[in-house]
Amino acid sequence: MPALILPTARLGHSFAAALREFQTEGRGGPDDRSLLGNLLRDAGPPDGTDAWIERVLDFEHRLTTDPPRDFVPATTYWWTEADIYLGRINLRHRLNDDLREIGGHIGYDVRPTARRRGHATAMLAAVLPRAAALGITEALVTCDTDNTASRKVIEANGGVLEDERGGKLRYWVPTAT
Ligand SMILES: CC(C)(COP(=O)(O)OP(=O)(O)OC[C@H]1O[C@@H](n2cnc3c(N)ncnc32)[C@H](O)[C@@H]1OP(=O)(O)O)[C@@H](O)C(=O)NCCC(=O)NCCS
Repeated sequence: MPALILPTARLGHSFAAALREFQTEGRGGPDDRSLLGNLLRDAGPPDGTDAWIERVLDFEHRLTTDPPRDFVPATTYWWTEADIYLGRINLRHRLNDDLREIGGHIGYDVRPTARRRGHATAMLAAVLPRAAALGITEALVTCDTDNTASRKVIEANGGVLEDERGGKLRYWVPTAT
């Protein structure tokens, strides 16, 4: 059974291989302002070396303990099975104005070679109790209007559409089952 874990050096090689898959699909370029893009720029080429994984862990640790200006504290979990990295999900501990408008409480991605197997749906379900533990009773989860897969993931987890803003659908997902 896949499970959520905190980022760990033990799976560094698997995570590096996943990031190379994301690069192959065009992520991590200068215009990629996503967390994944920031990580790829911050930690450097995903070569799986000890130094590289240390930079990845440091990047993730700082998101929680010392977030960049205009960011709220957040925790990244890895979705893994049998020591294989499958995906990641980032849980923001609270909303700020930008997150309330566009970004939401939770962001996620599944590595290209693991898609269409239900991982994103299961990963979002698995993180909801952790959001509840932070006092979040309804998590705001957003996706691009044309991101059919993500829309289905959110709706499968009980998301209720509030509205569309700036090209994003904004859903509220109850965190308690
Ligand atoms: C969006 C994403 C996380 C989905 O991950 P996944 O593990 O493939 O999703 P699931 O397997 O749980 O699929 C959920 C649903 O979407 C459908 N789906 C998956 N990929 C799809 C695609 N490319 N086109 C249309 N439907 C798709 C699945 O068939 C499934 O539908 P169902 O519930 O009717 O069976 C993944 O494609 C991804 O990482 N994309 C890039 C990053 C991203 O868009 N993140 C979300 C930002 S809001």
